[in-house]
Amino acid sequence: MKEGFSKLTKSEKIEWVINNFFNSADFDKKILKKYWSNDAEIQKIHDEFAENTITNFFLPLGIAPNFIIDNKNFTIPMAIEESSVVAAACKSAKFWSKRGGFKTEILNILKSGQVHFKYNGDKKKLFKFFKKIKQKVITDCSEIVKNMHERGGGILNIDIIDKTSEIKNYYQLSSEFNTVDSMGANFINSCLEQFAKTLQTEFLESDLFNENEELDIVMSILSNYVPNCIVKAEVSCSLNDLKNADITDPKKFAQKFVDAIEIAKKDIGRAVTHNKGIMNGIDSVVIATGNDFRAVEASAHAYASKDGQYSSLTHAKIEKDNFTYWIEIPLAVGSIGGITNLHPMVIWSLKLLKNPNGKELMKIIAVAGLAQNFAAIRSLITSGIQLGHMKMHLINILNSLSANSSEKKVLVEYFKKNKVSFRSAEKALKKLRKDELNF
Ligand code: MEV
Repeated sequence: MKEGFSKLTKSEKIEWVINNFFNSADFDKKILKKYWSNDAEIQKIHDEFAENTITNFFLPLGIAPNFIIDNKNFTIPMAIEESSVVAAACKSAKFWSKRGGFKTEILNILKSGQVHFKYNGDKKKLFKFFKKIKQKVITDCSEIVKNMHERGGGILNIDIIDKTSEIKNYYQLSSEFNTVDSMGANFINSCLEQFAKTLQTEFLESDLFNENEELDIVMSILSNYVPNCIVKAEVSCSLNDLKNADITDPKKFAQKFVDAIEIAKKDIGRAVTHNKGIMNGIDSVVIATGNDFRAVEASAHAYASKDGQYSSLTHAKIEKDNFTYWIEIPLAVGSIGGITNLHPMVIWSLKLLKNPNGKELMKIIAVAGLAQNFAAIRSLITSGIQLGHMKMHLINILNSLSANSSEKKVLVEYFKKNKVSFRSAEKALKKLRKDELNF
């Protein structure tokens, strides 16, 4: 057991971890330092984001141009390690830019949070008591909501909910919030903790209850499930307009596309993979813009199960001669607050997106998800996924085989006409090194 670890200096922490867990001390220590920024100011920002930081963990930041969203042109930043994701986004952006682009709509922007508490007395008394103190619960938060009010948001409502049929003596104060351009987690949690304080104090001071009646706060926390913070993004065109080099029979393509989505609606095995592909696009923009991808993931998957079965987050239909394809997804994200004005690459990414407000950012992220899903289904129902995937993954394979840059150049050319696999790359590299590679 290491006591007081967080109080050690950064160098002391590194010494400790290297001495205790690594044999090749020199290499393993150097690699940590190689990932430090040369710019002390930038490094300090990263050191201070989280406890016990000893180095940085890089992800590639790629950009996907040519996104037409509500008639405006965007280049979208994407932080992701998976080789084919940015390429797929670019391909979809280009495809739909020639077919009217993406159209978006914010359906609502409410977030919620709860004070979870236990009360062992007469239900009617509790509800009467809450009615009496409701206004005080809200006004006790006035300092916390001041800034949010100025920005046009705040606490929208607060209610007491009887949950005793699920858990004995269990109730909630449940509240909805508008956090405008911020994700709002700190704001909501601060309000909820104040609600809990007022509830507890007022309960103790109230003469409605006898000494056997107790009210115990269990916890106060926002809900990351945001089914009332939904954005929709859509594309549509005539069936004939779907025609492209790889879509020679657009009617058949559209029908297969709708079938693929239908399968993801009904089969959980497919639905999870289908939605994972959507999250490739969503998470990479969420990360690049400094938002909480764990919250977005948790909420998206819960929303995908809202009708009692885990299902596709995207939808498609053919009506007469028209193909329409859309996503509806909960996105609790912000363009202010959190690390959005601290992380230099987040600031840069938001600038690239023309400093969107919260709603605009929701729209852009939903489009990235839809575009990603379009690219995946398009490949799956035409060439298959591995062709593009392995082409993009080729450089990773060659790097893991320690190919040098001139070897990589030759092999990338070679694999334009040959099937990529780890084995085939290994073989080709061996042949190249023996000067036996013919193509
Ligand atoms: C891979 O990261 C994502 C896909 O599997 C998504 C899908 O199957 O729809 C290609």
